[in-house]
Amino acid sequence: MMRANRKNQKEYTSKMLISRVALRLAAALMIGPLFMITSSLPAQPPTVGFDPASKVFRLDGDGVSYAFGVNPRGELQQIYWGGRLGAADSFPQAQPMPEWASFDASYSTTPQEYAGWGGGLFVEPALKVTFADGNRDLVLHYESHTTRADGIDVVLKDIERKIYVTLHYTMEPQSGILARSATIENREAQPVTVEQAAAAAWALPPAHYMLNYLTGRWAGEWTLTQETIAPGARVIESRRGTTGHQANPWFAIQAGNTDENHGDVWFGALAWSGSWRITVEQDQLDAVRVTGGFNPFDFGYVLHPGERLETPMFYGGYASNGLGGASRKLHRFEIDHILPHRVSADTAPKPRPVIYNSWEATEFRVDEPGQMALAEKAAALGVDRFVMDDGWFGQRKDDHAGLGDWYVNQQKFPHGLKPLIDKVHSLGMDFGLWVEPEMVNPDSDLYRKHPDWVLNFPGRPRSEQRNQLVLNLARSDVRDYVLGLLDKLLTENDIAFLKWDYNRNWSEPGWDQLPPAEQKKVYVEFTRNLYSILAELGRKHPKVELESCSGGGGRVDLGILRYADEVWPSDNTDPFDRLTQQDGFTYAYTPQVMMAWVTDSPHWLNKRSTTLSYRMLSSMQGSLGIGANIAKWNGEEMATAKRLIAAYHQVQPTIVQGELYRLISPRNGSEFSATQTVSRDKSQSVVFAFVHSTQEGRLFPILRLKGLDPAQEYSLSPIEGKARAGTPQVASGAWWMNHGLEMNEGFRGDFQGAAFRLDRK
Ligand code: GLA
Repeated sequence: MMRANRKNQKEYTSKMLISRVALRLAAALMIGPLFMITSSLPAQPPTVGFDPASKVFRLDGDGVSYAFGVNPRGELQQIYWGGRLGAADSFPQAQPMPEWASFDASYSTTPQEYAGWGGGLFVEPALKVTFADGNRDLVLHYESHTTRADGIDVVLKDIERKIYVTLHYTMEPQSGILARSATIENREAQPVTVEQAAAAAWALPPAHYMLNYLTGRWAGEWTLTQETIAPGARVIESRRGTTGHQANPWFAIQAGNTDENHGDVWFGALAWSGSWRITVEQDQLDAVRVTGGFNPFDFGYVLHPGERLETPMFYGGYASNGLGGASRKLHRFEIDHILPHRVSADTAPKPRPVIYNSWEATEFRVDEPGQMALAEKAAALGVDRFVMDDGWFGQRKDDHAGLGDWYVNQQKFPHGLKPLIDKVHSLGMDFGLWVEPEMVNPDSDLYRKHPDWVLNFPGRPRSEQRNQLVLNLARSDVRDYVLGLLDKLLTENDIAFLKWDYNRNWSEPGWDQLPPAEQKKVYVEFTRNLYSILAELGRKHPKVELESCSGGGGRVDLGILRYADEVWPSDNTDPFDRLTQQDGFTYAYTPQVMMAWVTDSPHWLNKRSTTLSYRMLSSMQGSLGIGANIAKWNGEEMATAKRLIAAYHQVQPTIVQGELYRLISPRNGSEFSATQTVSRDKSQSVVFAFVHSTQEGRLFPILRLKGLDPAQEYSLSPIEGKARAGTPQVASGAWWMNHGLEMNEGFRGDFQGAAFRLDRK
């Protein structure tokens, strides 16, 4: 029966808000540390606590607290996620939402940490299962927990059946980023089919929020899409078997008055490179929750008695200083805790070598003399790494043949790869190679030998894209084959780097080796096997670095970034388009991994003509590479690129590993854009400024810099372009931040770029 009208509901909502605030205030005033610290604390935060009296768990990292508890019904319920609370603050026991109307079941409106589908749940479930007897009701209650130095594991169990879910929480102290995942275990005597499994659900109380997420398409990735969170659900997902260009598994939710530099932001990123889904929903009582994990579309994972399913990791963080603050936290976290630390766990990922890549210069027409000639010119520019792209293997003349046949093409390289690799080494560079190991062309020896190795439904068409099919990496024989071929390639050749490509999405995702009810496991096992191959290669060839590419930015996520040192954000190398793409990219990912090549003008995609200086500066905002046909570059072009590569080398650590401030966004048709990065120790800063197309003679806005030490002196030196006449050569951080940096009056026109460095005296 309906018990209240909409007006009453609104009043109720605001009462709830007031009572939440009152609760927090009351908690803040309570005296004495009610949290029992159940683990030995490291020197730095996090603190991890459980109060047995109130049954409240709390995790604190730098600037962030997260609390959840067991409510009287036994459900695990989120209590608080936001700015750090006092060490002595405490919470009373979590209380479920009351049943406001007969249509607003408390089980559904209570912000559960991990809700099973059952008991009348209308919001997105974290877990949905079907038991062997047809029962589909699942209600998870708290069972037990254990604490670790950096986190908590909480075991939930269905109220009647032996389905156990362990929720893992790990707090990273420096960023306050919380890593969450779940292990689902079947201890029943019969199999259970998991139809939906999230890694985590995050909740926010009723308020006005904006959602930020990244959308795109091939050659148009990284559009920052912003919208008001409204009643209903916004689903961002990939059903493609892989991460996808069209949406990226990252979100940021900002409070109503938040902008780039100020205000509350809650953000999250899912570490999974298979089909994924993040649902952001506002329920009928205006509360918001974000649920993300495996994409439930076409999903079904059979757990036999005793088996477990591990979900991916869903990272979540909070920043009080706007979207800029949120992305700086994520960047630092990615560099320190996600990216491979190749030499030892203590060695931070190094700034990427400046690469040369042959793709746009030669496409498939690679051969020994041509690549050697390019290598000589690349070395003359000061490039660190020479990468030969597609075309070197099998019968690869174009994209119709060869994928799967990873032997060196004898016509193009009659003596194998060694002469080219030796030449590259003699020029002082290391050598990298393109591979696309998960794919096969039907016109290949591999496919002729193993037509059953591809994803397919027997008797059905096998849809080709780019004339290729996807090998079913979920099969152990395919996994072993891919691992073996790459191990052999890396053992036989002195290769420092693989550009690992993946140029289509799935179709007909059948796996007919398994019984029909189990075949949908392919969505999980494919990606797991990919990760296991990458992990094994990392163990066997610890120095070999990797780039994740998927026709540009189709496989960029925190899952693949555990193995990949860098990514290829887009096949679109137009330097102007790249400004907006790079802006979008950096909301979620660090410039350290953002490869950016300088290519030829006019650009093949937009037919836009730009100067080499502009192209260089656009790419220097990330990890610089050269992808042009440098065989045709004249002396002046060689000199410009050489000068700017040398300047880049000097400041690269600041650009790619410093704190990024997006001073002026290029989005929404902006006439200008500018970024600034500051090294972590604040000793150096680099500023990039771009004019798109001057209108009405408008001068470039004064750039009020950020993140410097106000009391220290910084000297300004141009990398390219000039500051306004009269700009001091040395001034305090306060001067650069309050007065700001002014561009020369001549900084007008179309596609102009300038860059400056500031060095602490
Ligand atoms: C993809 C990549 C490109 C290039 C080609 C080669 O499209 O994104 O950079 O490597 O494949 O076929």
